[in-house]
Amino acid sequence: MKYLTIALTKGRLAKKTLELFKKAGITSGGADDENTRKLIFTNEEMGVRFFLAKGPDVPTYVAYGAADIGIVGRDTILEEGRKIYEVLDLKYGACRMCICGPPGAREILNSGDQFRVATKYPNIAKDYFLNRRHQSVEIIKMNGSIELAPIVGLSEVICDIVETGSTLKENGLEVLEEVCHLSARVVVNQVSMKMENARITWLITKLKEVMEK
Ligand code: PRP
Repeated sequence: MKYLTIALTKGRLAKKTLELFKKAGITSGGADDENTRKLIFTNEEMGVRFFLAKGPDVPTYVAYGAADIGIVGRDTILEEGRKIYEVLDLKYGACRMCICGPPGAREILNSGDQFRVATKYPNIAKDYFLNRRHQSVEIIKMNGSIELAPIVGLSEVICDIVETGSTLKENGLEVLEEVCHLSARVVVNQVSMKMENARITWLITKLKEVMEK
């Protein structure tokens, strides 16, 4: 039988996901061992295998069918824009995508003037400003510590993830506008959804059961 292949997002999300799968009776064949350098893990008995990947690569693996299923944040799903099905909200990893900046930046947002937006999520930012605010802005793609940008004068505002809000607070920034809510999601390859429907439905049902407990 062909393995049902599941791509996990490395890091905190993988840890939570593996706990959830374990509760559902689906063990990962060692993917939860934090000291291993192995990349793929097989549960022979259930015909399931897991691999760990960088977040933005998870929708890619799923879209191409290299993984039947992926577990990834909604931020990454929106940013990557791949043709995949989003089938379940796992609720954890909950946070918000926000436009943030120093308090004074509120005025700039509504002034009609051009301004710069630093972000790790250029597609989400572009979509928000163009389609929801009908504003053309300059987007600067960054790779992390986005909060630095308005402090050192790279941009007026940022488009970034806010979880507890402490990074913003400690750097004198605040949420100016909310773009959307985020959390971990289960995504499925469109062909696998047809070809492996019984096994995928079984797995989703199992996950839903343990989530409700
Ligand atoms: C994320 C995000 C914020 C921070 C928000 O960064 O980009 O910087 O967490 O969390 P908080 O609201 O609880 O303070 P992450 O730690 O993933 O690292 P990065 O800056 O390298 O992207």
